[in-house]
Amino acid sequence: MVEAPGVQRGLEDVVALESRICFIDGLQGRLIYQGYDIRDLAAQSNFEEVAYLLWYGRLPTAAQLAELRERFGLLRALPPSLVDRIESMPPESNPMDVLRTAVSALALFEPEEAKPGASSIGGAQRLTAALPTIIGTFHRRRAGLPPLRARPELSQAAYLVYALVDRDPTELEARAIDVALILHADHELNASTFAARVTASTLSDLYSAVTSAVGTLKGPLHGGANERVMELLNEIGTTELAEAIIQEKLARHERIMGFGHRVYKVEDPRATILREWSRQIGEAKGNMRYFELLRKVEAVVHREKGLYPNVDLYSGSIYSLLGIAHDLFTPIFASSRVAGWTAHVLEEYQDLRLIRPTAKYVGPTDLTYEPIAARG
Ligand code: SDX
Repeated sequence: MVEAPGVQRGLEDVVALESRICFIDGLQGRLIYQGYDIRDLAAQSNFEEVAYLLWYGRLPTAAQLAELRERFGLLRALPPSLVDRIESMPPESNPMDVLRTAVSALALFEPEEAKPGASSIGGAQRLTAALPTIIGTFHRRRAGLPPLRARPELSQAAYLVYALVDRDPTELEARAIDVALILHADHELNASTFAARVTASTLSDLYSAVTSAVGTLKGPLHGGANERVMELLNEIGTTELAEAIIQEKLARHERIMGFGHRVYKVEDPRATILREWSRQIGEAKGNMRYFELLRKVEAVVHREKGLYPNVDLYSGSIYSLLGIAHDLFTPIFASSRVAGWTAHVLEEYQDLRLIRPTAKYVGPTDLTYEPIAARG
């Protein structure tokens, strides 16, 4: 579609604001959180430390990290009336719809005194602690698993695994999930973060901004891709069929989920790291099927379209091997990205400017109004 001059469809390459939270070098394939390279954070940090970094702009001391871990443990529990409502939601509901609804409802069922500084870092911590509990509460009821316990001794990564598969992860599994949470925590002005900032720019509250973000992340062109990658692998079945099936899809101009990116022109550095974790978890489980299938799909898509994998290509294979249900993959993405969403909302509050672009009007401007009686 040829654009009218000045229109940047999808706001592609439009620089909308200044931020200190995240830098993406799409040509070099670099991702930086508050000055730190994602490869260093994935190798040496943990999700709690990264959330602290995103919110405060600096790495925590040991005492500050211990305090944050303790707060996450304390803030995991939900108001009982909200638990009742989550458990009464239809079991066939899309978990992202449940998450969006429950985040919105949390603001109603959270007594003011329990809402730790609603639109501040306290609120950010509350929401970051609560999202895994929301997802786990819904999933356990539909799966007939015993009710969730807060388990304050567990890290966010270990708690997420416990919440979703009702067992404690092995050390390797916990590390794999922790790295996945680090890698998904922020990504500059992606669609869901932008939605959160638009909401915050009207001076609306943190809970509303995160509700906007959850609804946006659900889309298959954004966070929902990780679930559809697994559907694709199940459709392909074996590596021998990968070539033909991918070729057919490309011939029909279908999008292959997990590939391509608006900003990265080379491999997404998160895909590089998740590919290695997919291999390690596959080897530990004695099941390389997903990894080998993904490697084959990668080769065909890159050869035919010159496209690289993005963060969504390998994450689902790791979650699947841990026994996590496919429709919980995007909620896992959300339970990490909520740290980034809230960091951006707080940054918006600090340097507020209503976000309001314009549209180039291409419709008529001089029509004559006809009374309904004259319209036949
Ligand atoms: C995330 O923004 C972020 O940072 C997002 C994210 C984050 O951390 O928040 O990184 C997370 O959302 C990752 C992306 C997950 N989505 C998918 O994997 C869905 C599949 N990918 C595509 O839909 C697409 O690549 C997008 C949406 C990710 C980016 O699309 P763009 O920048 O709008 O690119 P485009 O649609 O203009 O495509 C350019 C060309 C087209 O070819 P032509 O029609 O010009 O011949 O590349 C083709 C597209 O058809 N193309 C693909 C493709 N992605 C682009 N062809 C096949 N399969 C694909 N996946």
